[in-house]
Amino acid sequence: MNRNDVEILYDKETIRSKVKELAEQISRDYEGKDLLLVGILKGAFVFMADLIREIDIPVELDFMDVSSYGMSTVSSGEVRILKDLDYSIKDRDVLVVEDIIDTGLTLKYIKELLLKREPRSVKTCCLLDKPERRKVDINADYVGFVIPDEFIVGYGIDYAEKYRNIPEICILKPSVYQK
Ligand code: PRP
Ligand code: MN
Ligand code: MG
Repeated sequence: MNRNDVEILYDKETIRSKVKELAEQISRDYEGKDLLLVGILKGAFVFMADLIREIDIPVELDFMDVSSYGMSTVSSGEVRILKDLDYSIKDRDVLVVEDIIDTGLTLKYIKELLLKREPRSVKTCCLLDKPERRKVDINADYVGFVIPDEFIVGYGIDYAEKYRNIPEICILKPSVYQK
């Protein structure tokens, strides 16, 4: 990890208070319901870990791992399931937890897939939202920060699988990927 490759956008304290705010809202909205958090690997794992510890109502969690098909510069909109959920979501109140919504293709695919399984409800919680990049009409129900169109890394988010371990949410300097 090279600290010189990044600039901090949100520091630890800013992230902590935003995660707490989201968790409080979720705890209020899902009081008395059957809340199941579904984290989308790998990017959401750090956010998920922090979020769940700030939620103070009964909650269960599961994970799904998906990958945009093709992975190169052009996103086809096709998404592959690498790991499906462990349990049925029928009649459950599902909250999908994502680190970032960019083109929206991943979240749209996941939401449509889960809706076919007859849950009681499906909502989405994204820590970061990059609306300028949207290609499909989808918005998260809970959003942490609306961000500009910069390359983001840290707090679970990668560039070529690196930088996920940086505790802050950072902007990757263009010099790193413009080589
Ligand atoms: C990233 C990110 C979101 C998705 C957002 O995941 O974590 O899941 O892309 O992009 P979109 O709105 O354009 O679909 P990625 O596919 O890189 O996998 P990762 O979480 O394992 O890094
Ligand atoms: Mn992801
Ligand atoms: Mg990624």
